[in-house]
Amino acid sequence: MAPMEPAFVLTDRDFSRVRRLIHDYAGIKLSEQKRNMVYNRLVRRLRSHGGVDFSQYLDLVQSERSAEREAFVNALTTNLTSFFREAHHFELLAAWAGERAKATTAPMRIWSSGCSTGEEAWSIAMVMREAGAAAEILATDIDSEVLGVARAAVYSAERCESMPQARVRRHFLRGVGANEGLLSVRPELRAMVRFAQFNLQAPTWPVGERFDAIFCRNVVIYFEREAQLRLAARFAAMLAPGGLLLVGHSESFPAGHAAFRSCGRTAYELRPS
Ligand SMILES: C[S@@+](CC[C@H](N)C(=O)[O-])C[C@H]1O[C@@H](n2cnc3c(N)ncnc32)[C@H](O)[C@@H]1O
Repeated sequence: MAPMEPAFVLTDRDFSRVRRLIHDYAGIKLSEQKRNMVYNRLVRRLRSHGGVDFSQYLDLVQSERSAEREAFVNALTTNLTSFFREAHHFELLAAWAGERAKATTAPMRIWSSGCSTGEEAWSIAMVMREAGAAAEILATDIDSEVLGVARAAVYSAERCESMPQARVRRHFLRGVGANEGLLSVRPELRAMVRFAQFNLQAPTWPVGERFDAIFCRNVVIYFEREAQLRLAARFAAMLAPGGLLLVGHSESFPAGHAAFRSCGRTAYELRPS
């Protein structure tokens, strides 16, 4: 790990303040071990403000009119993702969508609730298109920067390597000339997904039509247990009867809520009321 530059010293006080602020803004509980990560990610922001120190920088983050709060949150989120990550969920979705498509032509409403750079939402769209099932997919994240990448929907060929070539050909357009090596999501998929910025810790959530499935995978790992349980209750209220909630490989928070029953590996179904 690179040593701290003398010009930028992250004191114990500054580090505690960073931890408190990211918890207040995003619900993320940063451990003591994340000190170097915090330093490395924020030092770039300090430089972009002309080399202010951490204390001055955090004043800026806290000032009401500053756009820096968003940049601070963007810098501290962890955005690791990939196409068809935790493939078992997409197998479950394909089987479930196939059954639903036989029963109704109404579009299924699916929410990717921490979508990062978009691979999860596009994977959902691919499965639904392959199943011949109409879908309206909402993909949200707190991080405005990753949402920009998700919306652009252009990925390097290496990022798509884990998918079978037939799937890539069916859902992506290959770049030529200056865009050689890039793959762009086809318009048919783009029409299925809407992206928006949304903080899962927001005090109030919009009320609207319910979702048939919600993906909340590898998002709440840094949230406290009570926040996870609050989220389970909120997701339950947003799901249609029989709706699915899919969580990350190391998460089990819906199991702690009476509204859900397990229906597969890290997959939960809303119990009939
Ligand atoms: C590790 S990525 C997971 C992406 C994808 N769900 C997956 O499993 O591959 C976690 C995402 O959750 C987002 N996130 C963290 N806190 C959030 C919050 N309070 N509200 C909404 N999104 C949040 C981060 O910005 C990040 O993009």
